[in-house]
Amino acid sequence: MKHFVSMQDLTKEEILTLVLQANRITENGVKPMLGQYFVANLFFEPSTRTKMSFIVAQRRLGIEVLDFASEISSVTKGESLYDTARTFESIGANLIVIRHQENNIAKKLADSINIPVINAGDGTGEHPTQSLLDLVTIYQEFKSFQGLKVVIAGDIKHSRVARSNAIALSKLGCDIYLTGMDSWHDETLDFPYITMDEAVEMADVLMLLRIQHERHQAHVALDHNSYLQTYGLTMKRENRMKKEAIILHPAPVNRGVELDSRLVECERSRIFKQMQNGVAARMAVIQRVLNQGGKFDEENFSQRQ
Ligand code: CP
Repeated sequence: MKHFVSMQDLTKEEILTLVLQANRITENGVKPMLGQYFVANLFFEPSTRTKMSFIVAQRRLGIEVLDFASEISSVTKGESLYDTARTFESIGANLIVIRHQENNIAKKLADSINIPVINAGDGTGEHPTQSLLDLVTIYQEFKSFQGLKVVIAGDIKHSRVARSNAIALSKLGCDIYLTGMDSWHDETLDFPYITMDEAVEMADVLMLLRIQHERHQAHVALDHNSYLQTYGLTMKRENRMKKEAIILHPAPVNRGVELDSRLVECERSRIFKQMQNGVAARMAVIQRVLNQGGKFDEENFSQRQ
C-alpha cells in the first residue's frame, strides 16, 4: 500500500489489518521509527482533530513535521498544489498528508508525485482515516463487524465520512442503513433509507453526521430544535436504543442539532473515544505507507473474523 486515499482501494483484509494494527497501538503503544523522516501536512481546509492527531501520531513515531500553513505559503502567490507538493518532495519530505476542498484531489496528487499521499479529507469525497478510527472504535466494542447493523444519520449527501464508512463497513460485512432529510439523500450510495425512529431501534452503531453547512450550494435555514426532533437523536430516542448500542459522531458536533447536548458524553457515546483512537489509526496508516512498524498480522486477523 503506497498511498491511503480511498477506502474503495482497500481489500477487506487490508482494512482489517489496519484496524488490528491501530488497536494494537492503543493497547501497547508504539516505538519511534528508525531513521529520519519528514512529513508535510498540507491542510487547505480548517481542521482541529484530524490535523492535530496527525501531528501527535507523527511526533510519537519520531517523524519531523514540516510547518505549512497555506495562507502564509507561496500558494498565496499562485503556486499550484502540484508544484507545492513537488517542492516538499524535492526538499526531502517522505510523506504528504492532504486535506482539500476538491473531491479526488488526493488521488490525483498520489498519481503525480513519488512519495506516499494520505487523504485527510477531500471535498465531499472521502475521509478514510476518519473511517479507520471509526472502525477501530467499533471493533473495540463488538470484536467483529459481520452482521452489525450500522445506521449513518444526517447530512449524507455532503459527508465524506459517510462515504468512506459506507464503503468500508459494507466490505466488512455490516448491514448499512441511512437516514436523513430527503434533500440530503445520496443516490450514489446504494443502501436503504429508514426513519430516525426506525434507526434507533435497530442500530448496533448509530453514526451521526455533522450538518456540512459549508458545502451546501444554497443556505439551508434550519430551526435547530425542529431538526433535532425530526432527524436528530433526542433523549427519548436514545432511551429506545438497544442496550449495547453505541453512538458515534466524527465531530465537531452541533450540540442540540444532530443530538441532544446531554448525549455527547452519555454512557453509550464513543465520541471522545473516537478522537483518542484517531491518533493510533493515523500511526497505523503512516507505518503502513512508509513500510514501517513490523510485520502486519493479516492472517491471524482474518481468521478471527
Ligand atoms: N472529524 C474531523 O475531520 O474533524 P476536523 O475537521 O476537526 O479535523
